[in-house]
Amino acid sequence: MNNLITLGEFIIKNQGDFPYAKGEFSSLLSAIRLAAKVLNSQINKAGLVDDLMGHIGSVNVQGEDQKKLDVYANELFVKALKARHQVCGIASEEEEKTITFENEEGLNGKYIVLIDPIDGSSNIEVNVSIGTVFAIYRRISPIGTPATKADFLQPGRKQVAAGYVIYGSSTMLVFTSGNGVNGFTYDPSIGVFYLSHRNIQMPKSGAIYSINEGNYPYFSHKMQSYIEYCKEHDPGTNRPYSGRYIGSMISDLHRTFLKGGIYMYPGSTKAPEGKLRLLYECNPMAFLIEEAGGRASNGTMPILDIQPTEVHQRTPFFGGSENMVRQLEKSLAT
Ligand code: AHG
Ligand code: MN
Ligand code: MN
Repeated sequence: MNNLITLGEFIIKNQGDFPYAKGEFSSLLSAIRLAAKVLNSQINKAGLVDDLMGHIGSVNVQGEDQKKLDVYANELFVKALKARHQVCGIASEEEEKTITFENEEGLNGKYIVLIDPIDGSSNIEVNVSIGTVFAIYRRISPIGTPATKADFLQPGRKQVAAGYVIYGSSTMLVFTSGNGVNGFTYDPSIGVFYLSHRNIQMPKSGAIYSINEGNYPYFSHKMQSYIEYCKEHDPGTNRPYSGRYIGSMISDLHRTFLKGGIYMYPGSTKAPEGKLRLLYECNPMAFLIEEAGGRASNGTMPILDIQPTEVHQRTPFFGGSENMVRQLEKSLAT
């Protein structure tokens, strides 16, 4: 433990690093921290509470089954963010339409939040780590007016902060406001996040590749060749790499932050743009990855430079240790 610094204290102490009005920004982060705590306590008893397990019978905008916890978590984050009056708009994986707050406080909110309230929901029922991931932008429309589509469709490079919560063997909140990445571990007995991972630096190279290899037949030849490269015997470059795939992007990338490696969700003949969503999955993770010294790409360009056109659009995603992602990009280009 780093001298028992709490997340709240850290935010106050580093206020000078935050680009915009301090009180507002920390109040917004408090909303996320609070919702994460409430969600954590529910996740910990998901196996016990009938209400939280299983499917709700509806599908979300992605055409995917909504789990009860997806819906619960979505309502929780929206409610917590709405109550703080710093946010004029929210986009969520679980909401087809963007949410804009048009009461007086909402119109004056300066921030836009894009969120995947539960990432890895297929892992809930088998007691495997899941997460929450969020991106925060400054609005570009005038204060006092309703948020516009352009506020939501900003390139990832414009993020002012991003973070994730991982509900794993311990619960952590990891975030950046553009000045490095710091991780806070939750002590559930007293309900406090403590700074435990200061200035996370992703190793420049690693020895783990992470991909749903069951999709191999649907990948391009170049992608297939890269997977073969990962498995070749070449001790000089740490190959063959170890294979690890949890199936929760946040958990797979959390491991990558700490141990290095490459995480991949490519396009395929079945899903040309892959599965992951640009705005509320790939962009926040890409911001954190770059801040930790790693690289995040769609195969040809940095994720953060993509100009979004749709709130729920997908993109191929390759993120992790810089040297490994560059090698992958080279393989896809040749
Ligand atoms: P979500 O639960 O928000 O729908 O996201 C699930 C995503 C991501 O977390 C994970 O990496 C990926 O789905 C796994 O997909 P496959 O089962 O296709 O490998
Ligand atoms: Mn997700
Ligand atoms: Mn989700």
